[in-house]
Amino acid sequence: MSSRSWFSRALLPWYRENQRPLPWRTSPDPYRIWLSEVILQQTRVDQGTAYWHRFVERFPSVSQLAKASEDQVLRLWQGLGYYSRARNLRTAAQQVVKEHGGQFPADHSTLLKLKGVGDYTASAIASICFGIPEPVVDGNVYRVLSRAFGIATPIDSTTGRKEFRGLAAELLSRAHPGDHNQAVMELGAMVCTPRNPRCDECPLARKCIAKAEGRIAELPVKASKTKTRTRHFNYLLIGAKSGIYLRKRTARTFGRGCGSCRWWRPRRRRRRHY
Ligand code: ADE
Repeated sequence: MSSRSWFSRALLPWYRENQRPLPWRTSPDPYRIWLSEVILQQTRVDQGTAYWHRFVERFPSVSQLAKASEDQVLRLWQGLGYYSRARNLRTAAQQVVKEHGGQFPADHSTLLKLKGVGDYTASAIASICFGIPEPVVDGNVYRVLSRAFGIATPIDSTTGRKEFRGLAAELLSRAHPGDHNQAVMELGAMVCTPRNPRCDECPLARKCIAKAEGRIAELPVKASKTKTRTRHFNYLLIGAKSGIYLRKRTARTFGRGCGSCRWWRPRRRRRRHY
C-alpha cells in the first residue's frame, strides 16, 4: 500500500457522508455524467443543475441529442457562453451514435476522440461510469493537492501540470476511482475553497502541510496572472422603424453571409378587449 493511501482513506468516508445530492449522482449513466461535466466546465453547480435538467428532459438519451438541430441545442445552452461547447456536444452525440452504436466507449483513449472531450472529461466519464482508474485534475483538484502536500510548483506550467497529474494518479483509489475523483472535486468546492477554507471540517486537516505551515493563502501558485486583453470591435447597427437587422454569428460563417440574416421585429403586443 502506498504511503499516501491515508489521503483516500480519509477522503472517501467524508465524501460518502457529505456529498451534495446532485441529480446526476443517482446513476453512473455516461450520457448524464458527460452532460454534467461539460456543463460544469462552464458554470457552478447551483446554476448548472437547472441546465442539466433542461437537457435531460428535452433529450433523455444520447440518440435524441444526436438528432437535435444545432439551433435546438444552442437554445438550451443559451446563457452558458462558449457556444462551441454546445456545438461539440451535439457532434459528440452523433459520434457516439454512428461510431459506437449509441453506447459511450468504456475507455479513456476512445473517449478522447469524441469532439470536445479532453483529458478532464474523459477521465471523469471513465472513472465515474466505468470504474477505470484515471485521475481527474481540475481547478479544485489543483487547490486541494497543492495545499495538502504543500506544493508550490505553478499549476499553469507544463512541469506543474505533469507533477499534479502524477500525484493525482498516485493518490487515486484503485477500488473506487469515480468516488475518489468526485471526492477531491467536492472537497475543493465545499471545504478547501479559494478564500476562507473550512479547515475545521476538512478530513485532510491533520495532514495538511499548507495548514501546518500557514501557507493556505499562498497555494496554489499561478505563474501568470490572468491576462485581460483589450479588444476593439466595429459593428453596424442597422435599424429601422420596423426592426433591427440581425446576422447570427456562427462558428463557420463569421464574417460572411450565413443564410440566416433576417430582420428582427419586436413582437406587437396583442390588444386585449375586455
Ligand atoms: N465539479 C465538476 N465535476 C464535479 C463532480 N463530478 N463532483 C464535484 N464537483 C465537480
